[in-house]
Amino acid sequence: MQSKIRKQLVDAFTNAGGSYLSGQFLAELIGCSRTAVWKHMEELRKDGFQLEAVRRKGYRIVSTPEAITADEIRLGLHTKFIGQNIHYQESVDSTQKVAQRLANENVPEGTVVIAEEQLSGRGRMGRQFHSPKFTGIWMSLILRPNIPLPKAPQLTLLTAVAVVQAIEEQTGITPEIKWPNDILLNGKKLTGILTELQAEADRIHSVIIGIGINVNQQLIDFPEELHSIATSLAIEKGKKISRSSLVRTFFEKFEKLYIYYLEEGFYPIKLLWESFAISIGKHIKARTLTSVIEGKALGITEDGVLQIEDDSGEIHHVYSADIEL
Ligand code: BTN
Repeated sequence: MQSKIRKQLVDAFTNAGGSYLSGQFLAELIGCSRTAVWKHMEELRKDGFQLEAVRRKGYRIVSTPEAITADEIRLGLHTKFIGQNIHYQESVDSTQKVAQRLANENVPEGTVVIAEEQLSGRGRMGRQFHSPKFTGIWMSLILRPNIPLPKAPQLTLLTAVAVVQAIEEQTGITPEIKWPNDILLNGKKLTGILTELQAEADRIHSVIIGIGINVNQQLIDFPEELHSIATSLAIEKGKKISRSSLVRTFFEKFEKLYIYYLEEGFYPIKLLWESFAISIGKHIKARTLTSVIEGKALGITEDGVLQIEDDSGEIHHVYSADIEL
């Protein structure tokens, strides 16, 4: 919360202990018009406060935003290295950018950058990723796996499995994975994953996995163009979900899978991924940068590449595309 006035307002509501405060009272308190009070209240709502406005009574704060501090996440976290070093910031342009800088400074593997909001969240293929304040989980995880460069996309699939397992454990809902990195609930996007590499010709320096999970947004928090294609856990569950607990569970699931992967290879992860995937066995359309491939999704290869069999029986290997079901 940036404004001094909004802090004054929150203090007044805290002192009121859940009672209504009239617009007139608040206007006099902070020395501005009632319209200005309304504008500040709207800003508070955007900051994650749940507000109630009732005619002739005034305003009341129903709930304050749940912050997602490093201490809160670490409390009860059972991992060896994932999430043991957390860089928390209230507002960043993109956690990917911060993580890239930290990776260059040789922070330990498993370091995570988490922000309450991203001003220019990045999606795949240069798209924007909407990341409003106090509502979702916007984080980037720094890894330094000793694996060949072409195997790096496997980590995206591993991450998707860990996200699904964490959501399942925390909410009882089992989302589905759409290749390569979207997690959907009832056909709408719940999570996006963006994997970026820092590498030399044949050696990975670091892998930065960006994860954006829509947790406590209401429909009104999404821009209109996303209303029909995006959702959040709160919308689907009808109640707020603890973001810190979800982050913690994700770290634990991820670390288990990652250690398993480094020891046993990709095959067990591939089987888990396929068990959560929606597109396998279905007729799909894959839009790559240069063409459209239509046919039956057969599965993924050992390298995480999608295989599609077209109507003539030819098998296509798809490395990067948008999938339409
Ligand atoms: C996609 O769906 O296209 C991928 C979205 C990835 C979003 C996450 S949010 C945390 C991290 N920081 C970013 O700027 N992007 C990723």
